Amino acid sequence: MKRKVLGMVLATSMVAATLVGCGGGSEEAAAPAAEAPAAEEEAPAAEAPADDAAEAPAAAAPSGNKVGVAMPTKDLQRWNQDGSNMQAELEAAGYEVDLQYASNDVATQVSQIENMINGGCSALVIASIDGESLTTVLEGAKSAGIPVIAYDRLIMNSDAVSYYATFDNYMVGTKQGQYIVDALDLDNADGPFNMEITGGSPDDNNAKFFYQGAIDVLQPYMDAGKIVVPSGQIEFATVGTPAWSTETAQSRMENILSSNYSDGTNLDIALCSNDSTALGVENALAANYTGNYPVVTGQDCDIANVKNMIDGKQSMSIFKDTRTLASQVVKMVGQIMSGETVEVNDTETYDNGTGVIPSYLCEPVFADVNNYKELLIDSGYYTEADLQ
Ligand code: GAL
Repeated sequence: MKRKVLGMVLATSMVAATLVGCGGGSEEAAAPAAEAPAAEEEAPAAEAPADDAAEAPAAAAPSGNKVGVAMPTKDLQRWNQDGSNMQAELEAAGYEVDLQYASNDVATQVSQIENMINGGCSALVIASIDGESLTTVLEGAKSAGIPVIAYDRLIMNSDAVSYYATFDNYMVGTKQGQYIVDALDLDNADGPFNMEITGGSPDDNNAKFFYQGAIDVLQPYMDAGKIVVPSGQIEFATVGTPAWSTETAQSRMENILSSNYSDGTNLDIALCSNDSTALGVENALAANYTGNYPVVTGQDCDIANVKNMIDGKQSMSIFKDTRTLASQVVKMVGQIMSGETVEVNDTETYDNGTGVIPSYLCEPVFADVNNYKELLIDSGYYTEADLQ
């Protein structure tokens, strides 16, 4: 991960960040053996260069046209959008869709996936709740020859996972960190600035990437004493928010504020990994804090958070255009189903414990009060009315 840091930090410019879309420079990887036993001997290694992969024989396509789409919860706005985008795009491409939400309950998700496997799905697209909990159920997919695409969140410890499509999670973190650096002019300001960190769900592989991306950008300023963390809660293990819960983030921040900021100390930076946790932090600030309002980061551009951004209660969010991810995944499904080579652009970063999973990383961008109209309204993601 470290190797990528410098390039990413350099690439993180507030101007360039207004470009939306999936990362360029894609590579092709032939469908791996898991879902294409017939092509086992010929299938090149996932890290094969694009040219070699393009010449590889096409893998055998799974038959049938029903696709199971397992989403974690309807509680968070983004997953509703992901699910409905996936359904609409898959149906438009001629697939039958079995779309399920699991109320953030692992057992429910496992049984939904079981039903998809037994119910004739030819491919599975899964946004896991707990990335570590699907190993057993996915053995069934593997033995039935059903390809599995990990959607947004990597599914760990399962060799049934064929591909992973997501936004560049590490880049999400670097963009949050860089936003803070720029907003407070940390290269020139002396500080010290007080920061508190609210991380994501420890069972979500993405959460560590978000955290690490941001910390790698901010660490030099922490080392120089320009950023300090009065609560002392810095390590990923101490800042996590199980299930990305707004309420948990809120009560944790209320405790931090009452222990460290009730004497009028200013909180300058609230580094929050995503919008649901940022919302909790914003609620805690509204209830318990009278100092200068901090820079608050987020991710997802959920409507409530964009409204807060407009009202000055959140500084930025990361925009992950779920339409882009859905299109890429539908393309992947089509390539797998027709036995074509599958487009990926990262064959190094995401090892799920059974090996590196060939991935397609879309590019996240930051949104703030200055560019949200162009990103969110002009692009048709939201209407003006949605944000009122
Ligand atoms: C992450 C996802 C984020 C955010 C979070 C909470 O896995 O990448 O976009 O939505 O989950 O659901």
